[in-house]
Amino acid sequence: MYAPLNISAAQVLKNTIWRTASLCCWMNRMNCKQLLMTIVLTGGLTAQIGVGADNSTAPASKLVIHADQAKDTISPNIYGHFSEHLGRCIYEGIWVGEDSPIPNTRGIRNDVVAALKKIKVPVLRWPGGCFADEYHWQDGIGPRSQRPTMINTHWGGVVENNQFGTHEFMDLCEQLGCEPYICGNVGSGSVQEMQQWVEYITFDGVSPMAELRKKNGHPEPWKLKFFAVGNENWGCGGNMTPQYYADQYKRYATYVRNLSGNQVYKVACGPSGANYQWTETLMREAGKRMAGLALHYYCGSGRKKQLAAEFDEGDWCAQLQRALRMEELVTKHSEIMDKYDPDKKVALIVDEWGTWHLVEPGTNPGFLYQQNTLRDALVAGVTLNIFNNHCRRVKMANIAQIINVLQAMILTDKDKMLLTPTYHVFEMYTVHHDAKLLPSEIQCGDYQFGSDKLPQVNVSASRDQAGKLHVTLCNLDPKNAAEVECELRGAKAARVSGRILTAPEMNAHNTFERPDALKTAGFDGARIAAGGFATTLPAKSVVVLELE
Ligand code: AHR
Repeated sequence: MYAPLNISAAQVLKNTIWRTASLCCWMNRMNCKQLLMTIVLTGGLTAQIGVGADNSTAPASKLVIHADQAKDTISPNIYGHFSEHLGRCIYEGIWVGEDSPIPNTRGIRNDVVAALKKIKVPVLRWPGGCFADEYHWQDGIGPRSQRPTMINTHWGGVVENNQFGTHEFMDLCEQLGCEPYICGNVGSGSVQEMQQWVEYITFDGVSPMAELRKKNGHPEPWKLKFFAVGNENWGCGGNMTPQYYADQYKRYATYVRNLSGNQVYKVACGPSGANYQWTETLMREAGKRMAGLALHYYCGSGRKKQLAAEFDEGDWCAQLQRALRMEELVTKHSEIMDKYDPDKKVALIVDEWGTWHLVEPGTNPGFLYQQNTLRDALVAGVTLNIFNNHCRRVKMANIAQIINVLQAMILTDKDKMLLTPTYHVFEMYTVHHDAKLLPSEIQCGDYQFGSDKLPQVNVSASRDQAGKLHVTLCNLDPKNAAEVECELRGAKAARVSGRILTAPEMNAHNTFERPDALKTAGFDGARIAAGGFATTLPAKSVVVLELE
């Protein structure tokens, strides 16, 4: 239980009245005057902010941040991305070719690179996804005019012309200043093919693959840290059992060599959602031979598959409930991993996550092109908070996907580009990159819709290398503000400032006509209080606070 916060009686009164008023709108069950009277008459003022108060009266949330318990570092790679040969992600979104009228550097869009640099993309996964287990990397090297085509069977059955291959991907990573994360082909590729890809990229000597790379215009090897041995091998990557895949993983991974001083961080295909048996088997059979295990979890589209921007409050609530399930998944998979790896040497890597809505009308169903609203921003905010809070085990995550596909950062239409609400959350959360996690606990009321109930406020906190504290808070309630009173243990703050992402509508989003309809704004709803700070989070908002 928490020590009582030292806040003034006036503040208590204000909070209580405020919360009560909010509750009235929210519950719509009790007459507002009646509710206020009940609270006052029962002397319940202090109970409204007290720990253990009846949640039905929705006390102010009590947050404790343990600034004296900073231990684990939040890997920037938690803020990683994913780019697949799917729809208009690579082609149009990233690659327009050198002869395009769209300004580009060696065929890669300049506007997209400039925008992505602002969110400090730390790592980029490629070439899939399901595409990875059909991809034969040698088709994507050499003179572009001579590269063969293939059918992208998973994604719309369209022709893939291999104009974007290994060299182009490594160039993109260099332009972004991020680590490449390549996913090899286990489903339909050979061990030799995988071995040669790593040799082609990393070997600094004389070998058939190194010579081929030089012939193709890149004399120096690249550094390649992250390499996944297959994707979704329980499904599109070969429909394997966990035992069979564990054996395949060991076989393929044996030949993924560390060459010329390059150390490969090998990632095994992990479970889908709550498939705990997969994690158990992989950790038992191959846990000692992997650096990471990849979990995939998509939180769908609310109660049913719908367009991203067409939903009601029930869908809002259901969507966020499904997003919050990440907490349970990460916790339970981590518990299994702890059994085999108590020192947490193997990372849990959530290399596909995000919302998955219906495709926008008139677009190819295989292209997974969806809009992105304030609801998606809240999904991103809570999920990233969960990853931060589990940063001891979660060392990388890759939202699906970076451009024009699923929960994208950027949408493009020919030469036009817009930043999605999810992009803005990633930008706000850059403060957590490489910062020390400050463990935190929150006691808050529930946001309830019908029979669905979820904690109204979601949070994570960190201290950066310059000593500044950052707290990211999400108010999941689309109608009511949330009062949060924070006790800062082991640190003092003299100043607080903030930024916010919110809008009057739950489905607020940016369009090519109004690309800046939803963007971040300054936030002055936080103040220093004795022992910490207090803030009022507007309904349906993501807030980042900086404390100095
Ligand atoms: O991100 C889209 C697809 O979802 C990926 O290709 C696959 O790995 C997952 O099922």
